[in-house]
Amino acid sequence: MSGWLKIVGLGPGAEAMITPEVSAALLDATDVVGYVPYVNRVAPREGLTRHGSDNREEIRRAEQALQLALEGHRVVVVSSGDPGVFAMASAVFEALEAGDAAWRALDIQVLPGISAMLAASARAGAPLGHDFCCINLSDNLKPWALIEKRLRLAVEADFAMAFYNPCSKSRPVGFERTLKVLREACEPERLVIFARAVSTPDESIRVTALKDATPDMADMRTLVIVGSKQTRLIERDGEPLVYTPRSAL
Ligand SMILES: C[S@@+](CC[C@H](N)C(=O)[O-])C[C@H]1O[C@@H](n2cnc3c(N)ncnc32)[C@H](O)[C@@H]1O
Repeated sequence: MSGWLKIVGLGPGAEAMITPEVSAALLDATDVVGYVPYVNRVAPREGLTRHGSDNREEIRRAEQALQLALEGHRVVVVSSGDPGVFAMASAVFEALEAGDAAWRALDIQVLPGISAMLAASARAGAPLGHDFCCINLSDNLKPWALIEKRLRLAVEADFAMAFYNPCSKSRPVGFERTLKVLREACEPERLVIFARAVSTPDESIRVTALKDATPDMADMRTLVIVGSKQTRLIERDGEPLVYTPRSAL
């Protein structure tokens, strides 16, 4: 049988948020390739080899997956959330473009998953219900100056904003810098949602005003949503609902 490569999203954490299409690809695979914690989300079974690798080895991992597929393996590359959102699909295509010409003949598919911003938004209500943008706050692959420019322009254009990678062990001050920019550019009452470990047993959803937001509210398992000027909060018994109306002036 000839090999193939599927680059899939495992969703934010819960089994129920993995699409049937991705589950079928995993059942059919001979090899699963990915960052160790994501590979560990795929149950071991006979006939399946799991290749876990370290966080910053995306290109080497992508090359390994392409080569395995070329050798006839049925390979699934796993990401959390959606594979096209700050994840492995772009890494595989970077490797494909720069690498062995034979890889271009492979059967390659990207299978979508539920991205963290969509799962987080759904938990809070509908904060991304009007125009929004998402920004990766990590400065591993781009300079902080570019992140800051995009933040300021997004605020100026009055987008709601979803932030991935607010901070990490190697970037402990990451989110503090972001909050400083937001405080300069937005009004103090602007709504901020901290959605941590959505759809896992550690899930927590916290809604606050920008003036009360602190850097420690975000860690590497947190997706942060900052509302636009239009974003509103509906108080009720239990958790409030946050939403952005469909129209703007
Ligand atoms: C490298 S990005 C991967 C994004 C992923 N491809 C997606 O579409 O969700 C990792 C970041 O996604 C966010 N994230 C991933 N899973 C999450 C979850 N279950 N709850 C909240 N945020 C999550 C966090 O901001 C984390 O730092």
